[in-house]
Amino acid sequence: MKLGFLASHGGSNMQAILDACASGQIAATPALLVCNNPGATAIERAQNAGMPSRVLNGKTHPEFAELDQAIFQALQQAGVELVILAGYMKKIGPAVLSGYRNRILNIHPALLPKFGGKGMYGMHVHRAVLEARESESGATVHLIDQVYDEGPILQQASVPVLADDTPETLQARVLEQEHKLYPDTIAKVVTGEIPLP
Ligand code: GRF
Repeated sequence: MKLGFLASHGGSNMQAILDACASGQIAATPALLVCNNPGATAIERAQNAGMPSRVLNGKTHPEFAELDQAIFQALQQAGVELVILAGYMKKIGPAVLSGYRNRILNIHPALLPKFGGKGMYGMHVHRAVLEARESESGATVHLIDQVYDEGPILQQASVPVLADDTPETLQARVLEQEHKLYPDTIAKVVTGEIPLP
């Protein structure tokens, strides 16, 4: 199975997945990175892994509908069968959503359905978890639907929230779990152990 990635920044989750493909934990081939940000570390990570990357964004395609089509076509041309969102901060358009229906995975740094939705990304999530005095947080891998953070949940991992946590320490503990959970979930999706609709 060929994997395509959409990322905007560091791509540490993408790196964990690339490593898992290289080690054989995931029986799939990384085929393409689509990135909106030409300065993203994710692009270097792709290069180091020998995976092609394309920069597609509002500069290359000022019309959102054209950008959406261009991303879909790039994924198709690369033979991508499963799309992995790895810190992609832009909206997914209808061409990609309908062309890859139930074949787009995302990871969210909280235990959905809690702490999801609009404005819930990055440090905002961890701050909200601490403000709500939760005793645990975690990460969720889910399918992407029309609505953010609302597709079916595939797997979750939890971490304790500690009394002296800051958003930064909580984020680090969650991210460590993300790097295990995301490759593990993709490995199981690829073998069919986790079936997709
Ligand atoms: C992660 O926290 C993930 O949960 C969220 O975006 C972040 C991406 O980090 N969707 P990285 O680019 O994989 O390092």
